[in-house]
Amino acid sequence: MRILVCGGAGFIGSAFVHQRVAAGDDVRVLDALTYAGREENLDGLDVDLVIGRIEDPGAVEQAAADVEAIVNFAAETHVDRSILDAQAFVTTNAVGTFTLLEEARRRGVRYVQVSTDEVYGSIDDGAFTEQHPLEPSSPYSASKAGADLMVLAAHHTYGQDVVIARGSNCYGPRQFPEKLIPIMVLNAIHGGPLPVYGDGQQVRTWLHVDDFASGIHAVLEHGAAGQAYNVGGAKEKVNLDVVSRIVDLTDASPSQVKHVEDRLGHDRRYALDSSKLRQLAGWAPRVDFDEGGLESTVHWYRDHEWWWRPLVETAEYRAYYRRVYDRDPDF
Ligand code: DAU
Repeated sequence: MRILVCGGAGFIGSAFVHQRVAAGDDVRVLDALTYAGREENLDGLDVDLVIGRIEDPGAVEQAAADVEAIVNFAAETHVDRSILDAQAFVTTNAVGTFTLLEEARRRGVRYVQVSTDEVYGSIDDGAFTEQHPLEPSSPYSASKAGADLMVLAAHHTYGQDVVIARGSNCYGPRQFPEKLIPIMVLNAIHGGPLPVYGDGQQVRTWLHVDDFASGIHAVLEHGAAGQAYNVGGAKEKVNLDVVSRIVDLTDASPSQVKHVEDRLGHDRRYALDSSKLRQLAGWAPRVDFDEGGLESTVHWYRDHEWWWRPLVETAEYRAYYRRVYDRDPDF
């Protein structure tokens, strides 16, 4: 299959590209190579890379020539950044998705939107099914929910062949050091403070990036047009427990754990019911968070300083870190 993977040089997109190339698909990547998308993530892979933005119709048209499907990973994804400034989230996530949908319509090809559990909002008990209304709480999740609604409208209005994959919190190699796990791992290894927001009792369900990538492929292959599918992790964890486990795995000191000011509007808990996709395609996560998943991720960061060091030394990263944590990074 000839697939256009938008955002294919990012964390989740590149995991998907690695899998599809190994499976023999013909992959073209469209990526703006902003702070989180990197050519290095595609090292050793035989893919065409078109550098451009998804909200640029010219770049999209060029990248989409002759493809049979478009899968969209390209997004601004970090809640904390969206709280500081949501402009790029609206542009990339909402306008970018619309631009890709228009191209998919012109070409008559299948469109897969990579989305998030955060579009449903926070849930105290139980798990969200795809029937739950969208009740996003952050500027980030609102921009993703808006994109999901545009995708569903494209099916309803024009009969477009679209599907949505909504994932839970991902972890694994090549995640930009702004999300919980890479931030904690790098600080733990280098003796810095581990900044836990608020009481640290928030709950997230962890999904290895390779499992999310295989779930997205199941949605691409088997999803019914106009449908959304939850692609949830199997391990529900309290943030503080994840941080303690990282302390153990890195031989850091528990005294490095520091409670800091809570995130504004912090969602307490996310949880997805993924039975719709399991029944449709037999998809299930394979990597266990406790049995090797987190540990191998810690090893990956230890062994790949050449990968993360240049990222954390940029002026942009240091300025971001200072704004969120009120200090310079220690790694
Ligand atoms: O649930 C899926 C979503 O997961 C994705 O759609 C988002 O793109 C992705 O960023 C992630 O969102 P979260 O806000 O849940 O992920 P993050 O890694 O930023 O934070 C995870 C939890 O850890 C959250 O409760 C906030 C907390 N946290 C995070 C950071 C960065 C801390 O306590 N300290 C930190 O320094």
